[in-house]
Amino acid sequence: MLTLVLLLSVVAAMNIDLDIQTTLTTEKASWTLELSRTWDVLGPFPIHAREQHFLSPSFPINISEPLDLEKTYPSAYADNGTVGWSTAEASAEGNLAISFPDIRWSELRATEGWSALQHHAVLHTTLTAYPPIGVTNTAPPRLILQLIQGAYVTILDSKFDSLEAPKTIPPTQDIKLTIDIEAVTPNVHLEPSQNVICDFIDGHAFGDALGVGLHSVGGWWTVLSAKAENFSLELTRKVVLAPSQSRIVPLRVLQTAEYPDSTLNITLVVASNEGREIEVAVTLAVNQLTSDAAFIFASHFAAGVPMIFTAISPISESSGPPILALHGAGVDIVSNSFWAEALPRQQDRWIVAPSGRTAWGLDWHGPSALEAWACVDSLVSILRSSKPSMALEYGTPVLLLGHSNGGQGSWYLASRFPDRVIGVIPQAAYIKSQAYVPLTMSRSAHFIDPAVRAILETSLTPDDNDLFLSNLVDTPILALHGGADDNVPVWHSRETLSVLKTWDSGVNATFREDPGMPHWYPDIMINDRVQSFIDQVFSSQSRAPPNTFTLTVAIPTESGSLHGFTIECLTTPGRLARLTVHVSANGQLQVSSTNVQRFSIASGKWNLSTIVIDNSPLLHIAPDLVTATFERLNRKSWKLADAIEGAGPQPSGRMQSFLTSKAPYHLLVLDGSNTQHLSLALRIAHDLNTYHRLDSEIHVGPTDIAQEGNILVIAHTSDPRLAELLRDQRTPFKIENKHLALREAVFDEPGLGILFLHPHPQDPKGQMLFLLCTDDAGLERAGKLFPIRTGVTVPDWLVISSRADQMGAGGIIGAGVYGNNWSYNDVASWLY
Ligand SMILES: *[C@@H]1O[C@H](CO)[C@@H](O)[C@H](O)[C@H]1NC(C)=O
Ligand SMILES: *[C@@H]1O[C@H](CO)[C@@H](O)[C@H](O)[C@H]1NC(C)=O
Ligand SMILES: *[C@@H]1O[C@H](CO)[C@@H](O)[C@H](O)[C@H]1NC(C)=O
Ligand SMILES: *[C@@H]1O[C@H](CO)[C@@H](O)[C@H](O)[C@H]1NC(C)=O
Ligand SMILES: *[C@@H]1O[C@H](CO)[C@@H](O)[C@H](O)[C@H]1NC(C)=O
Ligand SMILES: *[C@@H]1O[C@H](CO)[C@@H](O)[C@H](O)[C@H]1NC(C)=O
Ligand SMILES: *[C@@H]1O[C@H](CO)[C@@H](O)[C@H](O)[C@H]1NC(C)=O
Repeated sequence: MLTLVLLLSVVAAMNIDLDIQTTLTTEKASWTLELSRTWDVLGPFPIHAREQHFLSPSFPINISEPLDLEKTYPSAYADNGTVGWSTAEASAEGNLAISFPDIRWSELRATEGWSALQHHAVLHTTLTAYPPIGVTNTAPPRLILQLIQGAYVTILDSKFDSLEAPKTIPPTQDIKLTIDIEAVTPNVHLEPSQNVICDFIDGHAFGDALGVGLHSVGGWWTVLSAKAENFSLELTRKVVLAPSQSRIVPLRVLQTAEYPDSTLNITLVVASNEGREIEVAVTLAVNQLTSDAAFIFASHFAAGVPMIFTAISPISESSGPPILALHGAGVDIVSNSFWAEALPRQQDRWIVAPSGRTAWGLDWHGPSALEAWACVDSLVSILRSSKPSMALEYGTPVLLLGHSNGGQGSWYLASRFPDRVIGVIPQAAYIKSQAYVPLTMSRSAHFIDPAVRAILETSLTPDDNDLFLSNLVDTPILALHGGADDNVPVWHSRETLSVLKTWDSGVNATFREDPGMPHWYPDIMINDRVQSFIDQVFSSQSRAPPNTFTLTVAIPTESGSLHGFTIECLTTPGRLARLTVHVSANGQLQVSSTNVQRFSIASGKWNLSTIVIDNSPLLHIAPDLVTATFERLNRKSWKLADAIEGAGPQPSGRMQSFLTSKAPYHLLVLDGSNTQHLSLALRIAHDLNTYHRLDSEIHVGPTDIAQEGNILVIAHTSDPRLAELLRDQRTPFKIENKHLALREAVFDEPGLGILFLHPHPQDPKGQMLFLLCTDDAGLERAGKLFPIRTGVTVPDWLVISSRADQMGAGGIIGAGVYGNNWSYNDVASWLY
């Protein structure tokens, strides 16, 4: 009998629905499991919405010591300031409701708002695994865990449980944990829920991508080829599955003839590492539609993965730029037609409703923003191939609309890519995550040097929609909000409009507050007010630039142009950059800059013969320049630069930029014999797929560096292969006497987790991320900071010590944003 102890960390956070699968290794099927229904509960502890990535999941317990269920711990939420353990019973189905009725929540809520309801708790129970009867020496079983509403789960040896387990008011957390055993056989299984198939219109695929979900039960497998009967397709590249990994096999549609069937049968040829080849047969259900269909699933490749989006066709012919519609958090456009049906189908315009990669995505930032633009271009491509006379261009501007998180996303996309947006309808939008649920109950804040906090917070700057509203002063806007919205309070929209008007009192922005209305209501989108705004925007000529406007940019590679002006490079990354353009009465262009190293002007729009930058005139500009690029020489003087010379924009600025990759990720585990390193790679691959539909291939041991696709390197700092990879010293990180070093600091103490971005060796727009440690505990600390979620403050590089378990971000010993060309940036770095 094997007794295991489960420790579960839960964080009450609004709107979060986590679904974690964890696996252990083995080979036998007939074990049985018994999960105790009695749980020990410790909490609540104050925490802010994203702090769990820094603190130990078992905080305040030290899991290196035996569990003491009599012990009490300080907590600011409890009367008298301490909390102890209590117990809770799960239902027979495994449902567990956790609340802390003795806490005076309503009083905390009254002063601290929602941030008071954020709290952390630790749960503990026992899992017993019984081996198959009559069998000795079996390996431990592989467990499949399904966890709903929990944050982290760990399984400890029962030695840990040295003491026997003793025996509302909102917020209540409804948690469910189920555990099963998976028989481990060297085999692959289909995962039909991961399949990707588009609708067919008059027998033709509406898109160019198909996907087949495949899971390795045991062993390493390579998908070699794919074929279908009477339908032409190809495998876009070989796909390798690590043991227990699931991936979507990407197939490119090469259809030439009509395909009228309602099923499509595909055969995959898959080979094991030992050379055993098998054929896997897949049947995809084909939804055949006629050309007058309203709702159509279209498919395309984004970041190398087949994705689908919903397209809503116009009632008659289409005649120009489409509408891009961004759904709210948690809305799955594939399994649920609610969102598509809430959108106002147009007489002569397509509506594109992207998935955002997943129902949550990255709040329409990063890969979700790229996905939204890729869907628009993909629709253009599909329409052009079916109707060559189609006038739509790639990169067509759009009218943006969105609700809730999608309302926030429409502020985001419009203000970062103002030249691609001809009008915006943000509905029930929040400004930014820290305004939605404030970070006031931060534990880290009681320990961290505010100078470090400032550096960490630069990684939120690119998401702070309010800081970029200068870019929208002449975009037509119709902002809508229910006056009694109890999810996103209406003050968010009022405040956004107030900020806009501070930049320019003459903004073309209308705010409509619907008195007494909640977060969502029927016909919120389908009404005369919205339709007349849409009609006005589509019937207007392209707008002339105002006499004065300001372009604000945080990360150049994640931003587009405003009236042809593009900021290409910052003087000090980590700080905001601004260009203010003033067109004087005689047509002279006066530009003043803050923190801009390099910018360009699409000169078709502008007469550059008399441009003045930071009060100094630039002469002799050839009138036939298509794009004029300007580079700063010193504080106040500028020169006309060659478009390709000098420091180009680098694809960093914060750790999260690693989530932007044009091809599947490569996860390199340098030490193939270290099962913990491989386990972390599998967990990251799982999370990338689950939360962002980003695909990864895992490589063990030395390997050729991929041409494209971001690369994650997982290693111990003393690994000699690491020294090899860092040999060129493209960043300030180097190996000195077998230790990682940065300037005078040598990172050799136990428990360190280290993350830093690094240029991609082949692709100037790609990245590497080194996730390093000085021991196993350090690896887990670094792993929790892999940038899987929005709002976690990790800049370009970060070094964290074991003190973080108790002090959160107060345990950081170094953090920073790189300067240009991956240099050390004194202004935006801190090293203890
Ligand atoms: C946790 O417990 C171990 C073993 O007793 C001890 O070495 C370590 O210092 C403790 N950590 C903290 C943060 O107290
Ligand atoms: C708080 O302390 C007071 C005084 O010691 C005691 O009477 C009271 O029961 C305590 N409250 C709780 C909830 O433990
Ligand atoms: C393929 O097409 C041929 C000729 O049209 C037809 O006879 C055959 O039944 C088709 N096979 C399938 C599987 O649809
Ligand atoms: C695909 O395979 C299924 C199951 O074998 C079969 O019922 C179906 O007719 C096949 N479809 C085509 C188009 O051949
Ligand atoms: C505001 O924008 C709408 C839509 O483009 C346009 O019809 C209207 O004329 C604009 N109003 C002003 C005052 O510019
Ligand atoms: C640009 O401005 C200069 C100076 O005002 C003027 O001479 C020239 O004609 C203008 N060029 C165009 C194409 O308008
Ligand atoms: C960037 O730094 C590398 C060395 O790390 C150097 O070879 C390269 O020339 C630099 N590029 C620019 C544009 O300064």
